[in-house]
Amino acid sequence: MLGQLPPIMDPNVLVDASNADDAGVYRLNDETAAVLTVDFFTPIVDDPYMFGAIAAANSLSDIYAMGARPVVSLNVAMFPGDPDFFPVLKQIIQGGIDKMAEAGVPIIGGHTIKDKEPKFGYTVMGLIHPDRILDNSKAKVGDAIILTKPIGTGIISTGIKSGRVSEDVASDFTKAMATLNKRASEIMIQAGVSTATDITGFGLLGHLNEVLAASRVKANIHASRVPFFKDAERLVSQNVVPGGTTANLKNYEQYVKWSVNVAGEHKILLNDAQTSGGLLIFVPRDNMEKLVSLLEQDGILAAHIGDLVEGEFTSGGRINVEA
Ligand code: CO
Ligand code: CO
Repeated sequence: MLGQLPPIMDPNVLVDASNADDAGVYRLNDETAAVLTVDFFTPIVDDPYMFGAIAAANSLSDIYAMGARPVVSLNVAMFPGDPDFFPVLKQIIQGGIDKMAEAGVPIIGGHTIKDKEPKFGYTVMGLIHPDRILDNSKAKVGDAIILTKPIGTGIISTGIKSGRVSEDVASDFTKAMATLNKRASEIMIQAGVSTATDITGFGLLGHLNEVLAASRVKANIHASRVPFFKDAERLVSQNVVPGGTTANLKNYEQYVKWSVNVAGEHKILLNDAQTSGGLLIFVPRDNMEKLVSLLEQDGILAAHIGDLVEGEFTSGGRINVEA
């Protein structure tokens, strides 16, 4: 859809939609640029308070993925006009308020309209120095690839709808989605990284591919090193797979070379559409140990799932997946 946008001539637009970046960036002066993003979606969990919290964490994530500091937000909400829904809406809004407060980001306005199916999210503005923007074009050969949350929220969410997920796993899944990428972002800036993105609707391989395309580099991924939510592999083997994930698998197949021994379940999970997923961080090999140990000290997952490798960049086969 964004491909339809006219080309941008304003030299102060530092990042636009052309490289599928997480957020747009506009230079205000030599020291400061504004980073802008918007995200909203339909309920992903039954608990209205947690839905609001996840929507806030998800909306902030693109700012953190750019290496920026979120400063203000605006609420975007669509909800049924039925007065019975108002107490539910109140809880959704409260979940969002508390999560934005945890991030230290004031909500300074918003807009609501009536709609049959509720939708909730935020526009967020962040700030960054124009020289320190972690956009998709900055990954380099030799970078290690680090992932900060497990994969499989699409599969787990579909499994919950059909009653096939234990309460423990459902609670891990809800907590992971509501976890801010704030500390992971602050730590990667401290450690010194090439760039980062966050994993959302296009799945691990889709968002990896956006970075590879913009940076014109190739990647080697080890499927067995990717952390998955407990039960996710079992659910896939029982054919519990959402439509978005199947669509991703089809869309990104052209860019992937699968080793013969990669499990079918892993092929699907690596394409699973995520909600409020972790950061995918591209770090020069010399800084990797520092990054991983700082993340782990903070209680954040730091899985080294692959590397950016030498080789001619071509449209096909730019992602090598080994078992
Ligand atoms: Co993003
Ligand atoms: Co987004």
